[in-house]
Amino acid sequence: MKVLSGIQPTGRFHWGNYFGAIRQYIALQGNEQSYYFIADLHALTTVRDPAVLRQNIQDSALDLLALGLDPAKATLFRQSDVPEVTELTWLLMTITQMHLLEKCHAFKDKKAKGLAADAGLFTYPVLMAADILMYDSDVVPVGQDQVQHVEVTRDLAQRFNSLYGEECLVLPNAHVLDSSAKVVGTDGEKMSKSYGNIIPLFETPKQLKKQINKIKTDSKAVEDAKDPEQCAVFTLYRLFANDEQQAGLADRYRAGGMGYGEAKNTLYEAAMERFGPAFEKRTELVGRPDDVEDILQAGASTARAKAREVIERVRTACGLKQKPAV
Ligand code: TRP
Repeated sequence: MKVLSGIQPTGRFHWGNYFGAIRQYIALQGNEQSYYFIADLHALTTVRDPAVLRQNIQDSALDLLALGLDPAKATLFRQSDVPEVTELTWLLMTITQMHLLEKCHAFKDKKAKGLAADAGLFTYPVLMAADILMYDSDVVPVGQDQVQHVEVTRDLAQRFNSLYGEECLVLPNAHVLDSSAKVVGTDGEKMSKSYGNIIPLFETPKQLKKQINKIKTDSKAVEDAKDPEQCAVFTLYRLFANDEQQAGLADRYRAGGMGYGEAKNTLYEAAMERFGPAFEKRTELVGRPDDVEDILQAGASTARAKAREVIERVRTACGLKQKPAV
């Protein structure tokens, strides 16, 4: 399998990002080809402050490495370090029909709200198609919201191939990430930056405790029996605990005599156990910025070697380059 996915550097990652995506990327590393990149060119459609973007890119790299992305198994790079991808975007753009992009949700949603969209947002899916096709990727792990873009990618690859030669571009498949592990935020709704209810991944123990204490619970007294299924603290605990541990805490909810403070403390300890080592690893990496940069450079050079091979094929197919004599 040639696996590829991109992660937008739009801010610090939170538990939702980890359980919904990052953990699953890491589980797929070590395939024949596992490419993960920081989609900084895509982020430019929303992040307009250069200092913030720079910081976000750096943070994304640190977070991913700290969480277990292993440069010996996967290739980690910055999207913009492979300029071939912008060339491929243009070549694909010339065969992209407007109506295909008009129905893509990011653009459509913005238009429906009566907001003006940039051409960058409109053509966002073409850049994403170039990301995928650039490396002959066949498996693209993405959340449900990105499946449409992988479909566009398949359409474009098919169209390109039928115009220019059957086997030029590899048709990818979306591998839809498992979102069954529900990640709720501190207010009990889906955890999302836009709802202001996130629990960030890399907190000092003190901040983490504070964040967990913010999780909304009902007003039952300590001695009351409680329903674990209705409680965000328990729902989050599930992400960290095995079946036995989950059943243990659920029993204590139902029996009464345990306050929410104690449940929160149980969650805090489970989270510390899971993320504590990553927190330490991150702190250590922050002190070695040159090593992190080396990892990204090495990743870019691996990715670029592949990209050069594919762009040559594409240039030749569409007539920009002479066919090699046989
Ligand atoms: N658009 C994706 C997102 O917002 C990020 C992304 C960019 C991506 N290029 C990609 C994902 C290529 C998979 C493959 O989540």
